[in-house]
Amino acid sequence: MKIRLLVLNFLICGTVLATDNYNYQGLKYTGSKQKILIWGGETGWFGQEMVKILTKLGHTAISAKSRLENRQDIIAEIEAIKPDRIVNAAGVTGRPHIDWCEDHRPETIRANIIGALNLVDIAYTYKLHMTNMGTGCLYDFDEKHPKGSGIGFKETDDANHYTSFYCASKVYLEKLLLEYPNVLNLRVRMPLSYDFHFRNFIIKITSYAKVINEPNSLSVLEDLLPVAVDMTLRNLKGSYNFVNPGVMTHNEILDLYQKYVDSSFKYVNFTIAEQDRILKAARSNCELDTTKLLQEYPHIPHIKASVEKALLAMRKIKSQQIK
Ligand SMILES: NC(=O)c1ccc[n+]([C@@H]2O[C@H](COP(=O)([O-])OP(=O)(O)OC[C@H]3O[C@@H](n4cnc5c(N)ncnc54)[C@H](OP(=O)(O)O)[C@@H]3O)[C@@H](O)[C@H]2O)c1
Repeated sequence: MKIRLLVLNFLICGTVLATDNYNYQGLKYTGSKQKILIWGGETGWFGQEMVKILTKLGHTAISAKSRLENRQDIIAEIEAIKPDRIVNAAGVTGRPHIDWCEDHRPETIRANIIGALNLVDIAYTYKLHMTNMGTGCLYDFDEKHPKGSGIGFKETDDANHYTSFYCASKVYLEKLLLEYPNVLNLRVRMPLSYDFHFRNFIIKITSYAKVINEPNSLSVLEDLLPVAVDMTLRNLKGSYNFVNPGVMTHNEILDLYQKYVDSSFKYVNFTIAEQDRILKAARSNCELDTTKLLQEYPHIPHIKASVEKALLAMRKIKSQQIK
């Protein structure tokens, strides 16, 4: 059954490009057209999508060629292109997943810490605003933020999730990054999209032999990447929990997947303790407080409404593919 699903997803991913389902409502920037240089714009999931959104909005988006660890190359590229702002959507995320970082710590530090700091430090010198696509996987539910309480971690709460080296690298980065006054740091977590992209959280959990069932904050790219672009254009600064409001459990998502996309789909749960035994590093499960983000962008829909829309869009892609 899992093989059938993987083949279906492969066929759909391989032949259908994501349609533009981006939610452009609620954006606020009204200034002149800007030139944005994006690290990760050439091959990265978020970076490529941000290039598309900026282009659609009439701005000039350029994918950076320099590597984050090569300071002189970054300086040369900024001197040559003279961007109005820059975006860091680059970093090592590990393949097939973040467990890769456990055994590649120097490489992870080089890109995710030294590289990102290089970029922000150079941007500061050139008086450029930098948006960093960061992570919200910095927390685990705790006594003050218990599971199911609706009390999410705020941007000002100290991180408490250090069990995976990937996340630890992001905790260390965020602390230093926010010492710079020119940075917007967007804390994305468990990103999903309205298509069959292999990194889509929905696709990931449908491919697992067993899956945990925990409530989590998630980021729907169709809602949030246009907002990331708008926040960049507006020169907003500081850290923002960059997720849709509310939480959803794995089972809630998979039940909707079964309802809308594949009625024959079945899944099996296991506990976090059992999951920890098959992974190199324990994963973060948490709820993030979205008050700060919603003050700027109150239109961002609740996660349950957006996941339902995502699955309806995926059903449409699947039905077009099968015709
Ligand atoms: N996807 C997620 O689940 C998730 C969740 C939260 C946060 N984030 C963060 O958001 C950022 C973007 O994520 P993503 O999913 O779009 O990542 P992705 O698809 O894995 O792309 C990463 C990009 O970073 C580039 N890159 C890696 N090392 C580099 C280096 N040393 N110098 C220059 N470019 C380098 C890669 O270019 P090459 O192909 O040329 O190496 C690629 O374009 C990452 O920092 C990630 O940690 C991702």
